[in-house]
Amino acid sequence: MQLLLALLALAYVAASDSSSQWCYEIQTKQPNSHCLGPQQWTGNCKGENQSPINLIIAKARVNYSLTPFTFVGYNQMKRWTVKNNHHTVMMSLEGEGMCIFGGDLPGRYEATQLHLHWSEEQNRGSEHTIDGKRFDMEMHIVHKKMASGNEVQDSHKLAVLAFMVQVGEKMNEGFQPLIEALPSISKPNSNTALKESRLQDMLPSNEKLYYYFRYQGSLTTPNCDETVIWTVFKEPIKIHKDQFLEFSKNLYYDEDKKLNMKGNVRPLQHLGRRQVFRSHASGRLLFLPLPALLVLTLTHLVASFLQ
Ligand SMILES: *[C@@H]1O[C@H](CO)[C@@H](O)[C@H](O)[C@H]1NC(C)=O
Ligand SMILES: [Zn+2]
Repeated sequence: MQLLLALLALAYVAASDSSSQWCYEIQTKQPNSHCLGPQQWTGNCKGENQSPINLIIAKARVNYSLTPFTFVGYNQMKRWTVKNNHHTVMMSLEGEGMCIFGGDLPGRYEATQLHLHWSEEQNRGSEHTIDGKRFDMEMHIVHKKMASGNEVQDSHKLAVLAFMVQVGEKMNEGFQPLIEALPSISKPNSNTALKESRLQDMLPSNEKLYYYFRYQGSLTTPNCDETVIWTVFKEPIKIHKDQFLEFSKNLYYDEDKKLNMKGNVRPLQHLGRRQVFRSHASGRLLFLPLPALLVLTLTHLVASFLQ
């Protein structure tokens, strides 16, 4: 019996050995690193429908089903728990009754967690790129399909909302509670509670979220399951440069605080046979010159007349 326990303990230690762990490119460059970088990720990571991708506006097909989202419970005040999970900083949102619907999602999706990706330098930290442009950070809010009685298609299990983050000169008060908590979770596996705050205050205002991209993809960390309906908003969140720097300054990948957490960004994946859609941003019409607007209106009128 004791021998069996000892063997089990050994097996456990072997399994949690860092040599078999996945990591980001920057971590593979550390001396004596044995972790598996993005090229060696296993599971579904070599699949055909992977994320992130470069989103090309001119190639994204406008889709009138991509209506604005309804956010439920995003305005509640809470002391959210935040954790350094070895790879990112993650806020738990599960079981708080926050959900989204609309936006051509096949049902309601419950918010489970929020996390970010970033680099130390600017313009290096987003996972998706838009027309080849990389942003300073990217924030992901992960949602899972709520039970509806119908069978859930595997590829529709999750809906991730992605927000680009752009650094500037203006303080973002909505981000401050998270940023103030970062020094308390420097080491992996540590967690703390934020001061009372609302998720809604971290996002651009609702009407700025009408313009977004939609495609079918995967998680951007192993096992890279191809179960994600992606929504990438065009309007970036704006935070102050100092707020941005707090992430890589305070957070570490390792227990010994040898490597600051940064560059937690998966390289771009191939679009392959997939089509990217984009919502019809109503506000865009306002920027067209008047003659173009008239032609559009006339075309619309004639089209509806002929129907
Ligand atoms: C609109 O997008 C949905 C995915 O959200 C897709 O299934 C549908 O075929 C698209 N429609 C058009 C007309 O492109
Ligand atoms: Zn992510």
